[in-house]
Amino acid sequence: MSDLDPLFDNNRRWVSECLLDDPDYFSRLAALQAPKYLWIGCSDSRVPANQIIGLMPGEVFVHRNIANLVVHTDMNALSVIQFAVQYLKIEHIIVCGHYGCGGVRAAYENNQLGLLDNWLRNIKDIYHAHSEELEAIADPQQKMNRLCEINVMEQVSNVCHTTFVQNAWTNGHKLSVHGIIYDIHNGLLRDLSIRVNGAAQIDDIYQMSPKKKTA
Ligand code: CO
Repeated sequence: MSDLDPLFDNNRRWVSECLLDDPDYFSRLAALQAPKYLWIGCSDSRVPANQIIGLMPGEVFVHRNIANLVVHTDMNALSVIQFAVQYLKIEHIIVCGHYGCGGVRAAYENNQLGLLDNWLRNIKDIYHAHSEELEAIADPQQKMNRLCEINVMEQVSNVCHTTFVQNAWTNGHKLSVHGIIYDIHNGLLRDLSIRVNGAAQIDDIYQMSPKKKTA
């Protein structure tokens, strides 16, 4: 008897259900991965990508970390983006934040949490850059919600500042980067109307002028 037995039981039941619907389900998935979407979301257990957007295995490539950050020195996130864009040729990158994000809240507070402080520091920098707007919001809940939204906006920019995304645009690859937010109180997604389709939407300083590939 293992502590994980219930999970293995769930797994076998899930496999049976999938095969009942489609006997070729796993053999087809094993042969090809061709998702159209890359999801960059929070690790929060209440924000599971596939369930929220109703997509099956094989339909969304997923990267999750605390507070859905895209940090330009994070080889993990950068490798995911490069692979998704260059090799999977995904068409949409979705940065999804969520209200009630513990990471965003922790960044707003002034407690030491250990190594994590260095990760959350990225959000403190965002707060600092937008302090005028944020400090004008009196209601603490609204202020926190707005910080969650601004964080998404900044991470969308960080995605667009990568050379992989800019090269894709230069090479005529159809690619949009979106910012959305999830409300853990009602399960609904909200479109933040952030959509970047090309380098013209990026600040000059971040434009990398990639050379067009000949191949
Ligand atoms: Co979170």
